[in-house]
Amino acid sequence: SEEYLIKHRGCYFATKLITPEGIDSLEEFEIRDSDVFLATYPKSGTVWTQNILSLIFYEGHRNGTEDIVIMDRVPWLEYNVNNLDLANLSSPRLFFTHLPYYLVPRGLRNRRGKVIYVARNPKDVMVSYFYFSKFMIALETIPDLNTLMERFLSGKGKVSFSDKSSWLDHVRGWYTHREDFNILFLTFEEMKKDLRSAVLKICNFLGKRLSEKELDSVVEQATFENMKRDPRANYEFLPDTLVEKSKGQFLRKGTVGDWKKIMTVAQSERFDMALKEEMKDLPFNCLWDR
Ligand code: PPS
Repeated sequence: SEEYLIKHRGCYFATKLITPEGIDSLEEFEIRDSDVFLATYPKSGTVWTQNILSLIFYEGHRNGTEDIVIMDRVPWLEYNVNNLDLANLSSPRLFFTHLPYYLVPRGLRNRRGKVIYVARNPKDVMVSYFYFSKFMIALETIPDLNTLMERFLSGKGKVSFSDKSSWLDHVRGWYTHREDFNILFLTFEEMKKDLRSAVLKICNFLGKRLSEKELDSVVEQATFENMKRDPRANYEFLPDTLVEKSKGQFLRKGTVGDWKKIMTVAQSERFDMALKEEMKDLPFNCLWDR
């Protein structure tokens, strides 16, 4: 509810996790050329891509010899929940962020470091969030999909404590400012369609050369089924004070088009009218087609 959130520079933040000064200081966070940032709107494939990055970079993750939670492998820039010394991690550092493009470290916007942006069909994003809110204790449980949809479409984007802007502003902002960044755009849908190609794209973008065998291993371990079986990938380290484990999991279905099972035709049409038109000038049609 309201008191858990502060609004700062157009975005909402969890009062318990960051202060306005903390948000401002992120812009000064020093970037190394070797840094890799994963940027997403929540529920767009963050944990999936976090795991892929970790599997690409850490042999100990790939071959299962090191048991490190994913939040420590690829920490959250704005909410440093595990209290890591982010500035002094060894290179190459991996981070993820839900921030809009204009609040990220300035160095990134000067094309230092690299950014991977993952976008997902917004209807699936919304449906995924709907279920997520049921088991994350810190989140207000949304009574029904209509209520969530009105909030989602209102452009105010206040659906989640980690929401930094509306979905539309997030994707549009990152895309229209792409020239400022060293950035690779991926979609959840293309990762789902051909995971191996997506992993290869990431490797090429990051200049990581993996052997065929290593690549196979990354792809194998990043499938939904295998990640769901891995308590680290499924965020099962989160304490009972944060999640009600009987009510859901981070890895829920992992499919494309689950929205069709829960949204009515009328809801879908209303959604299209509000968002699809607005996206016409952006090359994200692929998000809607399947
Ligand atoms: S969060 O809370 O913002 O970090 O959530 P995020 O990780 O971005 O999104 C969660 C959705 O991603 C799905 N997921 C996957 N799909 C396919 N393959 C793999 N390996 C995978 N890992 C996570 C997860 O199931 C959530 O989507 P839904 O539709 O709810 O299943």
